[in-house]
Amino acid sequence: MSHRLRVVVLGGSGFVGRSLCARMVARGQGAAGRITVPTRRAVNARTVQYLPNVEPVQCDVHDDAQLDAVLAGQDAVVNLVAILHGNAAAFERVHVQLPQRLAAACARAGVQRLVHVSALGIDADAPSRYLRSKAGGEAAVRSGGVPWTVLRPSLIYGAADRTLNLFAQMQAVLPVVPLAAADARFQPVWVEDVAEAIVRCLHAPAMAGAVIECTGPKVYTLAELVRTVGAIAGRARPVMPLPAAIARLQAWLMELMPGEPLLSRDNLLSLSVPSVASGQLPGLESLGIQAGALEAVAPGWLAPLQGVTRFIPWRAVRLDSRSR
Ligand SMILES: NC(=O)c1ccc[n+]([C@@H]2O[C@H](COP(=O)([O-])OP(=O)(O)OC[C@H]3O[C@@H](n4cnc5c(N)ncnc54)[C@H](OP(=O)(O)O)[C@@H]3O)[C@@H](O)[C@H]2O)c1
Repeated sequence: MSHRLRVVVLGGSGFVGRSLCARMVARGQGAAGRITVPTRRAVNARTVQYLPNVEPVQCDVHDDAQLDAVLAGQDAVVNLVAILHGNAAAFERVHVQLPQRLAAACARAGVQRLVHVSALGIDADAPSRYLRSKAGGEAAVRSGGVPWTVLRPSLIYGAADRTLNLFAQMQAVLPVVPLAAADARFQPVWVEDVAEAIVRCLHAPAMAGAVIECTGPKVYTLAELVRTVGAIAGRARPVMPLPAAIARLQAWLMELMPGEPLLSRDNLLSLSVPSVASGQLPGLESLGIQAGALEAVAPGWLAPLQGVTRFIPWRAVRLDSRSR
């Protein structure tokens, strides 16, 4: 397969997708229009629309005809579409039926490679809808008849993540951090390492049929992760683990509030399964990637600015207010 693939990135507007698209562009992936990002709403793809050679296409990937049109003439497909919240039907549609239909559409279009991003801890009998449905989707890709590679990441962090940035913000405003599932275990992985892994899988025919666990070098409990983020951000606050019953009540109340809950009861069930490498499957090192350590890379965006650079946000606000 040529180095310049025509690639479709489903979910390419999201957190992992924007790092992946930027990385492919930086590698000189493709001449005009060679990275296609289907999106439900064009505005959602503003994260990638200014990258050269990335073409956002507004379309409904749950519609076979529209999916066929997007996949026509493409070499490879990356599936990053996922949800964290929803009812059973939503998880079934997005995590199981979409990968099923995507694999069938790839076969129809003659796509040579399907890279599917799954998750650690998935199992048909897992306690949460998220993990059970992700298992269903992974199984559909693996039996779909198109050469596939599956990546199973732990918690993914990066400059644009929701989780670690939220922990830093909480410690900026709260004297104490009340924490549900404080004992939950993770092996967090840097988004740039996941993006690099996807790029390498796209270009390595030998990785067809491989399931790769994507983890960082170290295991943390959630409480340790919050403390580590606080220390990096220069505002560590004490962590107050919440008893399980209070955590469930808090999650239920969050679900009742408008908008996406910060943490749902299903998320709590997912957190009861360690998101840690099994050691039975190849890891990032099988792709020649040495995973970055959180303490080494996260200061790049979490650490307080030093010296004159600490005035940059203030200056940006001043310039902004002058331009009004
Ligand atoms: N982030 C993590 O810590 C983590 C950990 C383990 C595994 N993963 C897996 O990694 C992959 C990427 O995660 P991410 O954090 O980048 O996700 P994300 O930021 O939430 O992005 C997912 C993208 O999927 C699209 N999407 C969402 N709901 C959809 C729906 N109902 N129908 C069609 N498209 C929909 C959205 O694109 P549009 O809005 O443009 O349509 C969105 O940009 C997922 O498979 C996830 O399960 C993530």
